[in-house]
Amino acid sequence: MSATSRELEILNAAFQRIHAGFEAFPAITSQPDNELSDVLLRLAERLTDNDPYHHPLYCGQMLKPPHPVARLAYSLAMWLNPNNHALDGGRATSRLERECVSDIANMIGWDTHLGHLCGGGTMANFEGLWVARECGDGGAILASQQAHYTHQRLSAVLGVPFHAIPINARGQMDVDQLESILQREHVDTVVVTLGTTAVGAVDPLADVLALRHKYSFRVHVDAAYGGYFTLTNNLEAATCRHFESVTEADSFAIDPHKHGLQPYGCGCILFRDPQVARHYLHDSPYTYYTSEEMHLGEISLECSRAGAAAAALWATMQHLPLEREGEFAKGLESGRRAALGLHAWLTSQELFHPLLQPELDIVVWAVEAASASESSRRARQFFEAAQQEQVYLALATMPRHLVEPLNAITNWDAPTVTCLRSTMMKPEHEEWLPEIIERLERAMATTFAEPD
Ligand SMILES: Cc1ncc(COP(=O)(O)O)c(C=O)c1O
Repeated sequence: MSATSRELEILNAAFQRIHAGFEAFPAITSQPDNELSDVLLRLAERLTDNDPYHHPLYCGQMLKPPHPVARLAYSLAMWLNPNNHALDGGRATSRLERECVSDIANMIGWDTHLGHLCGGGTMANFEGLWVARECGDGGAILASQQAHYTHQRLSAVLGVPFHAIPINARGQMDVDQLESILQREHVDTVVVTLGTTAVGAVDPLADVLALRHKYSFRVHVDAAYGGYFTLTNNLEAATCRHFESVTEADSFAIDPHKHGLQPYGCGCILFRDPQVARHYLHDSPYTYYTSEEMHLGEISLECSRAGAAAAALWATMQHLPLEREGEFAKGLESGRRAALGLHAWLTSQELFHPLLQPELDIVVWAVEAASASESSRRARQFFEAAQQEQVYLALATMPRHLVEPLNAITNWDAPTVTCLRSTMMKPEHEEWLPEIIERLERAMATTFAEPD
């Protein structure tokens, strides 16, 4: 029996359990819809017009298939379609959500918290920055030049000035530059990214927090990508130090739909001080009837939200608890080893120049060439050739100062260069690495062959 058939059998058994729970209600009769099959088959055909995101040969963008338990739990809960805005619409799944959020708060070592799930990293960061604005007094938001572009956009939406802080040679926020901005600007919030989108760099959170002895500001941690790495045992000691200091941050955004094995539509925002709930205060004349217990809509900006997302996360966290040395943590460690393996292979290639030693599981490299524009062209050519070999990579535009020290480019005729990028975020990537490298070697032979 195929894995999919087995999963559908399990789902069917679980559906019977739900049906049994509502047995007391009169049966709803419905006719089988004969057109369903036709539509679904046509949809399946349309869906094949995608890159193979689920496959280990896909190691380009941040894409990771949900765990089977998440897929099944989501489908199961979606049949009832609970809404986690209010207990009236999603009592069971609201409780599941609170359990999950509390386990995530425990993972980062917080004794107190206020938090909830949300649509994704953008929404989680939005709430983090919005609460920071409400707690502040008109000061700016700062984030590194390599922070996700969402922070600058969200600052504009919130009507708060934004400044980008230059990065150091490892792609992390430069703390000296941060301090010089803190000396001259009125700042309310510093965004610290644990795992930048392009290269997976970890900003020096411990050093940023130390500046609070001299300056007063809130620290919002954007761990949308990297947050779960706090469970792993194979990070560099310097990186661990920054993950450990999360306990002192004010707010924390993490995306279960990135490294947490969830379908899209699952972000999470946490605040260390539960008192910030006061900023969310509102009254709903429509939804909050069964109160006493808090409704999640009373502490979140989004209203309707899929209870199925909470069900999927809860089931996944039951199956793979957030434990050091647990299976979930081992999957992340394995992706990191794959990234280090890929980095080592790239280093052994004359034409390839990895930018940084990976801090998490993302590898970025430039292609040697006479000029920046030629290097970009060769990177795009290799990207295409790798796809011909069924290996899916990504491209990233990198600033000159990160690439220049590699001595890969002689003439800087452009301020940036297109590099190759690989996100080794699937636990299977480690096992597949030899196969990936073999295919990349073939792609190199076709891209960089000397003309006869
Ligand atoms: C560090 C970081 N922050 C925020 C985001 C935005 O998250 P989302 O795409 O879930 O809205 C991303 C997405 O890649 C990210 O990597």
